[in-house]
Amino acid sequence: MVLSTGYNKIRTAVFISGTGSNLKSLIKFSKIKQSPISIEFIISNNSKAKGLNYAKIYKIKKKVLNFKNKNLSENKLLSILNKNNIKMICLAGFMKILSKNFIKEFKGKILNIHPSLLPKYKGLNTHKRALNNNEKYSGCTVHFVNSRLDSGKIILQKKVKISKNETETSLAKKILAQEHKLYPKAILKVFSL
Ligand code: GRF
Repeated sequence: MVLSTGYNKIRTAVFISGTGSNLKSLIKFSKIKQSPISIEFIISNNSKAKGLNYAKIYKIKKKVLNFKNKNLSENKLLSILNKNNIKMICLAGFMKILSKNFIKEFKGKILNIHPSLLPKYKGLNTHKRALNNNEKYSGCTVHFVNSRLDSGKIILQKKVKISKNETETSLAKKILAQEHKLYPKAILKVFSL
C-alpha cells in the first residue's frame, strides 16, 4: 500500500456522533495513494463520541458543536469548514439533520451512509424494522445528501443476507462490516463519474 502525502486531495470533513468505525475506515482509506480525499476535520455533535479519539490518534483537527441551537451551530460550522478549506463532507453516523441552507452551501458535496437498502427503511431503527418485516435481505447505502432525509441520489449499495436466527445486533454487526468497505468504494465511484 503506497502512502500519499495528501497534496491535491479533496479536503474532507467527517461528521460523527458515536463510535466512529466508519470514520476510522475512511481515515485509513484516505491515506492510500488512490484515495481522492484527505480527512482534514472531524465534527461531532456529541462531546462523548468515542470516534473523537481518532482525531488524536491520527492528528486530525476536531470540533464539537452541540446543535442545541441549530442555526448558530451551523453558522459556526460553515465558518470552520470554510476557514479550513473543506470541500467535501462525509456523514458517518451523524445523528443530526442538516438544514436546507447548510446543504445548499455544499451542494452535491455531502455524502451519507445509511444501514439499509434505501429507499427502504429511511430514518432510525432500520434493522429492527427490516427484521419485523421478515425481509430476506438488508444492507447499506451510500448516497448524496439532499434536503429530504435519506433520500438523495444513491451512489452504491451492498446487499446482505438476513439469516434465520438473525438479531438486531447480529444484523447491525454484519452490515457495519460491509459499510466499512462500501464508503471508500462509493467515494472512488463519485470521483470517477
Ligand atoms: C452506521 O451503521 C451508519 O450507517 C449509521 O450509524 C452507524 C454509525 O456507526 N448511520 P459508526 O459510528 O461509524 O461506528
